[in-house]
Amino acid sequence: MHDFILGIFMGGFMFMGLLGVKVARADHALPGCQQTCGNLSIPYPFGTREGCYLDELYFINCNNSRPYLRHGVSGVLDISYDGQLRITSQVAYDCYDREGNQTLHYQHELALLRFSISSKRNKFTAIGCDTNAMIQGSFGQKYMTGCMSLCESLRDVKNGSCSGIGCCQTSIPEGVRDFFIQIDSFYSHYGIYDFSRCSYAFVVEEEGYNFSSTDLYKLRKESQFPLVLDWAVGNSSCLEAKTNASSYLCQKNSVCYDSENGPGYLCKCLEGYSGNPYLEHGCEDVNECLDPSLNVCTDICINGIGNYTCSCPKGYNGDGRRNGTSCILDKRDQSVTPVLTAAGLVGMFVFLLISYWGVRQRQSIKVKENFFKQNGGIMLQQLLYKSESIVERAKIYTEEELKKATNNFNESNIIGQGGYGTVYKGVLADTLVAIKKSKVVDRSQIDQFVNEVIILSQIKHPNVVKLLGCCLETPVPLLVYQFVTNDTLFHHIHDEGCASSIPWDMRLRIATETAAALAHMHSAPMHIIHRDVKSANILLDDEYTAKVSDFGVSRLFSLEETHLATLVQGTFGYIDPEYFHSGLLTQKSDVYSFGVVLVELLTGAHVVSFDREEKDRNLGMYFLSAMEDDRLHKILEARVRKEGHAEQLRGVAELARKCLRIKGDKRPTMKEVKEELAKLREFEIENHSWVEIGPNAEDREPLLEDVMGFHQSNAVSDLDSMKNQEMQINSGGR
Ligand SMILES: *[C@@H]1O[C@H](CO)[C@@H](O)[C@H](O)[C@H]1NC(C)=O
Ligand SMILES: *[C@@H]1O[C@H](CO)[C@@H](O)[C@H](O)[C@H]1NC(C)=O
Ligand SMILES: *[C@@H]1O[C@H](CO)[C@@H](O)[C@H](O)[C@H]1NC(C)=O
Ligand SMILES: *[C@@H]1O[C@H](CO)[C@@H](O)[C@H](O)[C@H]1NC(C)=O
Ligand SMILES: *[C@@H]1O[C@H](CO)[C@@H](O)[C@H](O)[C@H]1NC(C)=O
Ligand SMILES: *[C@@H]1O[C@H](CO)[C@@H](O)[C@H](O)[C@H]1NC(C)=O
Ligand SMILES: *[C@@H]1O[C@H](CO)[C@@H](O)[C@H](O)[C@H]1NC(C)=O
Ligand SMILES: *[C@@H]1O[C@H](CO)[C@@H](O)[C@H](O)[C@H]1NC(C)=O
Ligand SMILES: *[C@@H]1O[C@H](CO)[C@@H](O)[C@H](O)[C@H]1NC(C)=O
Repeated sequence: MHDFILGIFMGGFMFMGLLGVKVARADHALPGCQQTCGNLSIPYPFGTREGCYLDELYFINCNNSRPYLRHGVSGVLDISYDGQLRITSQVAYDCYDREGNQTLHYQHELALLRFSISSKRNKFTAIGCDTNAMIQGSFGQKYMTGCMSLCESLRDVKNGSCSGIGCCQTSIPEGVRDFFIQIDSFYSHYGIYDFSRCSYAFVVEEEGYNFSSTDLYKLRKESQFPLVLDWAVGNSSCLEAKTNASSYLCQKNSVCYDSENGPGYLCKCLEGYSGNPYLEHGCEDVNECLDPSLNVCTDICINGIGNYTCSCPKGYNGDGRRNGTSCILDKRDQSVTPVLTAAGLVGMFVFLLISYWGVRQRQSIKVKENFFKQNGGIMLQQLLYKSESIVERAKIYTEEELKKATNNFNESNIIGQGGYGTVYKGVLADTLVAIKKSKVVDRSQIDQFVNEVIILSQIKHPNVVKLLGCCLETPVPLLVYQFVTNDTLFHHIHDEGCASSIPWDMRLRIATETAAALAHMHSAPMHIIHRDVKSANILLDDEYTAKVSDFGVSRLFSLEETHLATLVQGTFGYIDPEYFHSGLLTQKSDVYSFGVVLVELLTGAHVVSFDREEKDRNLGMYFLSAMEDDRLHKILEARVRKEGHAEQLRGVAELARKCLRIKGDKRPTMKEVKEELAKLREFEIENHSWVEIGPNAEDREPLLEDVMGFHQSNAVSDLDSMKNQEMQINSGGR
C-alpha cells in the first residue's frame, strides 16, 4: 500500500517537474529589452531598439507585433542560436496579356549586408512556361546564375518536379549577401496565356516550397516564401576574435565556432547547458533529469552542474543510460527487483483484494460470532477475565490462527483420526501443538465444558497434557493441546513394530504416572473425571513419560466408535459396567478404566479381541477369569513375565482386579491406586522369575490382601456381572 501511495505521490511530483521545464526559461534578451515580438522570441545580439541589439545590423523592427529585418520589408519568421535566420522572401514576376504585351514586371533586390544567404538550404526557383530567370549578386561573392522553364501544355507539367517544365531550380553559391532577380520571356507567353500568363522567380528554403501545376496560374505576386539566412557575429574567425577579449562575444560556459558561410563566428553553450551564449550567465545548466524530451536515464537520474549521472536501483546493474547498457536485473538478487518495479501494481491489486475480502469477511465474521456464542464463548470470556488470580489463562484462538497453524487443516498435518474426529499437528507461536477437531458436539453440556476448559487450562501436572486453549468460532469447538512427541501407550503396546518395546519397569512407571495424573484431577476443585481412560489417551514423550490427554472431553464429544447411546460415553472394553447400567458417572468409573489399562500393560493383549474365545473377548473378563483360575502367569506378556519380579507382578495384577470390581464403591480411589503402585515400584526382592515362584507361592498374597482388602468372592461376582454386561451390549448393539 505504501508503494502504491508513494507511486502516486512521485507521479505528481514528476508532473510538476515537467511543468517546471517550461516555466523556468531563462531570458534571451538583455535586461529591460523586449523578449518577443508577436510570436517571435528575439535573442541578443538581436534587439528591437537601440541598446538592445549588438549593432544596427541586428535591429529587428517590431511594427504592431510584426517583426521585420532592419528597415526592410522582409518579415522575420525565426531566429535560432545555431546561426539561422528565417525571413520572408518576395517574388519577382513578369506578366503578359493575350497579345503578348508585357503587363506587369517586378525585379526583386535584397541586400543583407552582414548575413549570408544559406546556400545549403535555399534554392533559386522560377515558375512559368516561357520563363528565363536570373539571379546575381556582388556583395560577398560576385555571381550570376539562373534557370529556364518552358512548356506547351499543362499535361506536360509534373507536380513536385522543378526540372525545367513549368518549374526550374538552381543552387546559389556560398557566401552571397545580396541578390538581384531578373525575369524575362522568350515568346512573351504567346499561345500559353490560358494557363501561364506570368513568370515568377524567388529564393526559397528548399523544404519550404513544393511545386504544383496549379501555381502556374494561381500563384499570386504577393506570395511570400521562407528564406534562410546564415547569421554570425564579428568579422573574423574565432581564433582572431579571441585575441581581443573586449570584443569577444562568447560568454561563460560557451564555445566559439566559425561560421560556415562567410566571415564571423558563432557561440554555443557547452553540452549540458542551454541558453543565450552571448549573454553574461546566459548558458545555464540543463536539468536533464527533468526534461522528458531528453529522457537520458532509464531509472535514477541525478543532475549535476553541466552534466548528470544515471544510476540503477538496488538489485540492478548497468550504467542506467537509455543510450548505454541501461539497467539490467542483477542475477544474484532477482527476488527483490520485480517486487520494486511491480510494487505499484501489486499495491493496487492488494488494495482491491482487501476491499473485496472485507465484504466477504463481514459475512463470515457473523457466522463465526454465532458459533462463538453457541459454543459458550461469551461465558468463557467472562469467566477468564473475572479470574484475575489465574496466571496462565486458557487462550481463545481464532479460527484463522488455527488454520494458519495447521496449513489450513492440511491432510499432511493429521496425526490421529478416529470416530471422535481428527487430531492435527500445528505450529502456534513457534511451539508444536495438537489441535483436536471433533465430529459431533453435545450442546447441552457446553456450559460445563466451558468451565472445564478453564480449569483444565490451569492445571499443571507433569503427567497431564496441557490444554492451551480452544477455538469456539467453528461449529465444533477446537481444542489446542501441548504437543506430545512419542505417540500413545496403545501404539507402543499393540503396534506390530513396537511390540514389547517397553520393558516392564517402564510399564510400571507409566502406570504410576497415569494414576498420579488421574488422582490429581480427581482431587482438583472441580473433581474432574476423565471419562475415557484408555491406553490410546495416554501419550508418551521422548523420555516415555506418561501424559494423560483428553480430560473431560468425552463430556462434549459423543464417541461414535462406542456404538452406544449418547447417555453412556466411553470406549468399549474400558467402560465401567456400573456406569453402563446406571448411567451414573463417578470418579470410580475412571478407576475401572484404569484397571483395564493395567491389565493391558500386564498382558499386552487387546482390550477387545475376536482372536479370543467368545467369553474371553473382553480383556477385563478374560483377566478376571484367569485370576480366578490362578493362571495369571499364562496370560502375562512373555517379556513382562521375564522381566517382572513375581511379587511385583502379582501385586499389580491384584490391584487391577480391585479396580475392576463391579461395584464402584468397592474399588480403591485413584489416590490409593497411585500410592499402591508407588509402593510396588519400590518393592525389592531377589530377582525371582514367575516360574521359580510357581503357581502355589501363596505366602506373599496377604500383603496385597492387607493393602487392598481383596476378596476372592468379589472377583467371582465381578466376573458374573461382566458377563451380563457383555451380553447386554451384544444384544443392544444389533
Ligand atoms: C502566433 O502563432 C499562432 C500560431 O502559431 C498564429 O495563429 C498567430 O497568428 C501568430 N501571431 C502573430 C502575431 O504572429
Ligand atoms: C509600421 O507598418 C506600417 C504599415 O503596416 C507603416 O506604415 C509604418 O511606417 C511602420 N512603422 C515603422 C516604424 O516601420
Ligand atoms: C501591344 O498592344 C498595343 C495596343 O494595345 C499594340 O499597339 C501593339 O502592337 C501591341 N504589341 C506589342 C508587341 O507591343
Ligand atoms: C498537382 O496538384 C494539384 C493539387 O495540389 C492538383 O490539382 C493538380 O491536378 C496536380 N497536377 C498534376 C499534373 O498532377
Ligand atoms: C512538401 O512536400 C513534402 C513531402 O511531399 C512535405 O513534407 C512538405 O511539408 C511540403 N512542403 C510544403 C511547404 O508544403
Ligand atoms: C570586416 O573586416 C574587413 C577586413 O577584413 C573590413 O574591410 C570590414 O570593414 C569589416 N567589417 C566590419 C563590419 O567590421
Ligand atoms: C578590441 O576591440 C575593441 C572594441 O571592439 C576595439 O576598440 C579595440 O581596438 C580592439 N583591439 C584590437 C587590438 O583589435
Ligand atoms: C560534472 O560536472 C562537475 C562540475 O562541472 C564536475 O565536477 C564533475 O566531475 C562532472 N561529472 C561528470 C560525471 O562529468
Ligand atoms: C549516446 O551517448 C554517447 C556518449 O555518452 C553520445 O556520444 C551519443 O550521441 C549518444 N547517443 C544517443 C543516441 O543519444
